[in-house]
Amino acid sequence: MRMRRTGAAAPLRGTRKSGPTPKNGAARKPARPVDRRTISVTVNGVVHTAEVEVRKTLADFIREDTGLTGTHLGCEHGVCGACTILLNGQAVRSCLLFAVQAEGAEITTVESLGSPEHLHPLQDAFRDHHGLQCGFCTPGILMSALAFLNETPDPTDEQIREVLSGNLCRCTGYQGIVDAIRDAARRLRERA
Ligand code: FES
Ligand code: FES
Repeated sequence: MRMRRTGAAAPLRGTRKSGPTPKNGAARKPARPVDRRTISVTVNGVVHTAEVEVRKTLADFIREDTGLTGTHLGCEHGVCGACTILLNGQAVRSCLLFAVQAEGAEITTVESLGSPEHLHPLQDAFRDHHGLQCGFCTPGILMSALAFLNETPDPTDEQIREVLSGNLCRCTGYQGIVDAIRDAARRLRERA
C-alpha cells in the first residue's frame, strides 16, 4: 500500500522554509522542466502509447496510463514483490523499472490470466487451497508463479518455497500458497 501524507510536513528545526535568498534582487533560476518521452508498450496484447515523465516507474505507467490496477504497489523499493509483472516473459518488479525502459516491450499483468467466469488454473488452485486472504500480495505471487511454472512445470516444494522467497505475504503463512502452486502445476501439466 502507498503511504499517503495526510498533511503538510512540519519543517525540520534549523532548516530554511525555502531556498537561499537571492542577493541584490538577482532572479532565482527557473525550475528545470521535467523531461518527457513518448513510449509504446504492449500490455496484455494491446499497444499503449503515452507521453510520460522519464522518472515515472513502470508500475505507475501500468496503473495510471493503462488503467490496469491489478498490479499492486507495496514497498515501492523492490522488497515485497506485489508489483511483479512479466516483461518479455520474465518476472520483474515493476516498481524498480522506469516506464521508458519498457519502450517496445511486451508486458503481461495479472489481468491477462482469467476472468471471474473463466479462472486461470493458477487462480483456480489459489481459490481451492485458500492461497490468499486479503489478496494484496496475490497479483504479484500469481505472476511470479506463472513465470516460474513456465520454466519449471513439475516443481518440488523446495523450489516453490524458493521462488516465493521474493514475495511477501502477511496473511497466509504461505502453506496454502505452496499447495496452490503445486496443484496448479499439476493442472497445467494435464492441460498441456
Ligand atoms: S512494490 Fe514492493 S517490490 Fe515493488
Ligand atoms: S493474502 Fe494478505 S498479504 Fe498475502
